[in-house]
Amino acid sequence: MARIVVVGSANVDLVIQTPHLPQPGETVLGGQFLTAMGGKGANQAVGAARLGATVTFVARVGDDSFGQQCLAAYQKEHIDTQYIGVTPDTATGIALIAVAADGENTIIVASGANMALTPSDVAAAEPAFAGADILVLQLEVPLETSIAAARLAHRHDLRVVLNPAPAQQLPDALLDEVDIITPNRIELAQMMRLSAEDVQAMSDDDLARTALRLGPRSAVITLGADGALAADPGGWTRVPAFKVDAVDTTAAGDSFTAGLAVALARGETRLADAVRFASACGALTATRLGAQPSLPTAAEVDRFLRAESTGSSMK
Ligand code: RIB
Repeated sequence: MARIVVVGSANVDLVIQTPHLPQPGETVLGGQFLTAMGGKGANQAVGAARLGATVTFVARVGDDSFGQQCLAAYQKEHIDTQYIGVTPDTATGIALIAVAADGENTIIVASGANMALTPSDVAAAEPAFAGADILVLQLEVPLETSIAAARLAHRHDLRVVLNPAPAQQLPDALLDEVDIITPNRIELAQMMRLSAEDVQAMSDDDLARTALRLGPRSAVITLGADGALAADPGGWTRVPAFKVDAVDTTAAGDSFTAGLAVALARGETRLADAVRFASACGALTATRLGAQPSLPTAAEVDRFLRAESTGSSMK
């Protein structure tokens, strides 16, 4: 049984579909409005739970109705919510999301209670770390909290997976504690203080070397339609992307991270094979609208992978 601890953000997503993403100063008449559960941390926790892992989510919500909705949603997914705090006089994290007809999106997050998650909250959750396999982190809560979680994870022999989103420069105090980092090109550019153009022009070899220079032992660089690179000191492998009709790419990266963590926690030893499973999770998520509503179950991923390997198409 895969046991995963996620320390990270919980948001409610307010989503509007739009023919195109607005330019600065532009008003666009959009389409359907949707309220969905989101937040990178919560998406990764729910994604891992739907894939069959036993998940503890360490987070903070506000003392508002959104916070109560979040807790109820995670409990429905059989996630251990005992270490989710409710912060008084604070709003639950909210994300305003625009989704264009081609599936691309823009996201603005009002962090709210996510920024009240402290190293003490992590310390209180220590019993959940004992006996777990993997800690999953992202960057929507205070950095010192993520650092405390990564250190605690290593004291309990967990592997630490960091999805470095949203993009930012990171201190060695965090990078030194990470076993597997999963940047996309933009995040890699930000962390390495390179231009987006320089990273876009890099060969696979350069991408792999650059990501490993960050410090973690392994790196998975996600390249959108170009697939992903699984890199460790022994070399790198390009794992092709699955071709799907994208409806909304929101949470595709979170679903990928959840898939990667679950595959590794289940004992997958080849990073490239774990990345293939993760890619299937991300691809399926992009075919549906919304963050948590779009995260696939283990059965859906298995069916998708079987259809891909026999060459039959699946929607
Ligand atoms: O990765 C997608 C998520 O980013 C959304 O669910 C939104 O809440 C933001 O955290």
